[in-house]
Amino acid sequence: MHKSLTRTPLIAPSILSADFANLADALASVDQATDRIHVDVMDGHFVPNLTIGAPVVKSLRPNTEAFLDCHLMCTKPEILIEDFVKAGADAITIHVEIGKTKEYIKQIKDLGVYVGLSLNPDTPFESIKEFMKDVDIILFMSVFPGFGGQSFIPEVLDKVREADRYRKDNNLDIVLEIDGGINSETIGEAALAGCDVYVAGNAVFNTDNPADAIKNLEEQASRATN
Ligand code: DX5
Ligand code: ZN
Repeated sequence: MHKSLTRTPLIAPSILSADFANLADALASVDQATDRIHVDVMDGHFVPNLTIGAPVVKSLRPNTEAFLDCHLMCTKPEILIEDFVKAGADAITIHVEIGKTKEYIKQIKDLGVYVGLSLNPDTPFESIKEFMKDVDIILFMSVFPGFGGQSFIPEVLDKVREADRYRKDNNLDIVLEIDGGINSETIGEAALAGCDVYVAGNAVFNTDNPADAIKNLEEQASRATN
């Protein structure tokens, strides 16, 4: 597995909260603190917002060596997946709510990148359970996807605990990642529930020093579990 998939705790800054006119600077500002970047791809259908396409990932790619995880909040990922991989994505994460999960997992794997499966706050653990042996990452949405800067929904952690138990019971090599409302108030409880990777948008980029913000969050996650 890629080193950024095995290191834990790890903060994955979401560039959705960065200044889109200065994305190269945003990448540089977190470069020393993390080797993983979260790219929120919204299609205006699955969620009421439209964000980043493959051409942007292509432009980002030469500016960073970090692992680029593209989170596709899209109803038709089949028309986008290959373009994102060609553009330089290291992992593609799709949503279980759109269905055809098996087919999408295969399509992504066949292209040789890591596969993530995401679920919304109101989607039960049962809906992802059968796919846990086939994917590399489970991405738990701790807000309803669409926008950065929303409040963390703590009930989601019950599903994280279930998934953590399930992976241990079944010896699965899988990363549990959480996305939405992660900050210094919420990261500790997410860590205790069993998360490995924490997506953070506002808590990283809406600060004076994104690299320090990452280090502080990472320390808090470590402290919670030690
Ligand atoms: C929500 C996105 C998140 C978001 C996280 O739709 O998937 O990645 O950017 O941002 P914060 O950390 O500000 O909640
Ligand atoms: Zn995301």
